[in-house]
Amino acid sequence: MTGLIIAPSILSADFSKLGEEVRAVDEAGADWIHLDVMDGHFVPNLTFGPGVVKALRPHSRKPFDVHLMIAPVDPYLAAFADAGADAISVHVEAGPHVHRSLQTIRALGKRAGIALNPGTPAAMVEPLIDLLDLVIVMTVNPGFGGQSFIPSTLETVARVRAMAAGRDIDIEVDGGITAETVGLAAAAGANAFVAGNAVFSAGPAGYADRIAGIRAGAQDHSGTLSC
Ligand code: DX5
Ligand code: ZN
Repeated sequence: MTGLIIAPSILSADFSKLGEEVRAVDEAGADWIHLDVMDGHFVPNLTFGPGVVKALRPHSRKPFDVHLMIAPVDPYLAAFADAGADAISVHVEAGPHVHRSLQTIRALGKRAGIALNPGTPAAMVEPLIDLLDLVIVMTVNPGFGGQSFIPSTLETVARVRAMAAGRDIDIEVDGGITAETVGLAAAAGANAFVAGNAVFSAGPAGYADRIAGIRAGAQDHSGTLSC
């Protein structure tokens, strides 16, 4: 575990001024910038590709946490690495060779992550553990911001945390995280928290307060449940 991380997702930002939005959440205390890439095929929504990631790179020095919800994913890994991603996560379900995808991300010199859908068992992590720097446990079904947190995913968080014991692996929850739900995820063992709607719905003047509120909620409950 590498400490408590708050990662605002720009999926809920104002897309007409993304550079400004990235700068605003950076200055408001974001630890990572979470970038959701969707292809309209793996998930029923479309967002942006490596060109936008590259265009945003000069707007923040914080790590870019790139979450790829695309299939196939392998043909695009190098493009996202070149665009300035620091961590690249792929879905277990995105192709038949997730082990190879993780090897490729590591070979590109980036932190490698997998993402588990709410219906995907924690056991999928086990054979991949040596290749992982990050596990994203989806706490909503991927595709859209502003959905409600799914409580059954907490069991997955706890199982992944137990599997990751003694290793330098971040466990990140993604979807429906607010100052209220974040405590549940932290107690189950998550140490990184994506928040889209809960940060951006405040408007720029409220970003710092929202990020601080989520951080405080996580700190209050961090590691309070044993796995
Ligand atoms: C969902 C994305 C999330 C999303 C979270 O598919 O992976 O990162 O932006 O948004 P909120 O925090 O609004 O649920
Ligand atoms: Zn995401």
